[in-house]
Amino acid sequence: MTFAPGKVILLGEHAVVYGHPALAGALGDGVDVEVVPGEGRLRVPAWDVAVLPGEGATALSLAWAAICEAVSRVPGYARPAVDLVARFGVPTGSGLGSSAALSVAAARALGEAGGVSLGELALLEIAMAAETVFHGKPSGIDHAVAARGGFGLFTRAAGLSPLPGGPRVPLVIGHTGRARDTRGRVARVAELASERPGETAAHFAAIEALVRRAAAALLEEDLATVGAAMNDNQEHLAALEVSCPEIDRMCDLARAAGALGAKLTGGGGGGCVIALAPGREEAVQAAWTAAGFRSFTTVVGGRDAAPAIRAEARA
Ligand code: MEV
Repeated sequence: MTFAPGKVILLGEHAVVYGHPALAGALGDGVDVEVVPGEGRLRVPAWDVAVLPGEGATALSLAWAAICEAVSRVPGYARPAVDLVARFGVPTGSGLGSSAALSVAAARALGEAGGVSLGELALLEIAMAAETVFHGKPSGIDHAVAARGGFGLFTRAAGLSPLPGGPRVPLVIGHTGRARDTRGRVARVAELASERPGETAAHFAAIEALVRRAAAALLEEDLATVGAAMNDNQEHLAALEVSCPEIDRMCDLARAAGALGAKLTGGGGGGCVIALAPGREEAVQAAWTAAGFRSFTTVVGGRDAAPAIRAEARA
């Protein structure tokens, strides 16, 4: 059995694809992968699918092919007669890193079944190959969090650096009811970056400043500043055309119910909204429930936020 956590991007999605920093952390839940005797299939019982690498040319089978191919190049690997069975503990297609968690947990499980233990660099490279199938042009943030756990600042150049002090961020996470569209939204931002380079670069620079302000505020436990940065980040994301009417509505409802900050998380176009509402969590959830949106509460970060270690404990 292997496990990899889902993730929440607190601030900085999309700009992170262009080299800017983002703040992200692991969720307590993610994807469990079990190894069973078989012929090399990746099975997802919840979706009623069991694919061989590349079979039917679906995103799942092509990502599975990328994982199998990359793991097979690791010295000492001997192809095992197994299937992998994946079970999701986070909602899929919602911007919470389920595909990256699947890629990381599946690569680890396949490596272990084939007699090799993948180092972090190998794991990140393999997960990148799979995430490229799922998302087109990933920054690597989702699978860095899935592989490492914890909470920190991520850049393409430096990877994930844990924030000192292990700040804890209580969040309400609500679902728009619409699937997130990471691939489509990343492609739209790329179009904007080439059509209107100056304007897009200004949004990215402003988002970077918000990420840095929020990271500094977290060290001081100044959640009001973090919330304000989230609200401003959402404005820039809307201007980059990655929001949608449901996200806008959920952000308005959360703020009216007392949230310090609310924004989309992940690719956008649907998926999830996060609200920072210390002491007002129930009010935010009640407002969302009344409007037909499902939600849950979680805490990201903290000194014990190392779900990657849970993988070893469970194995
Ligand atoms: C997706 O979780 C986050 C994006 O920034 C894309 C990426 O970083 O690969 C939208």
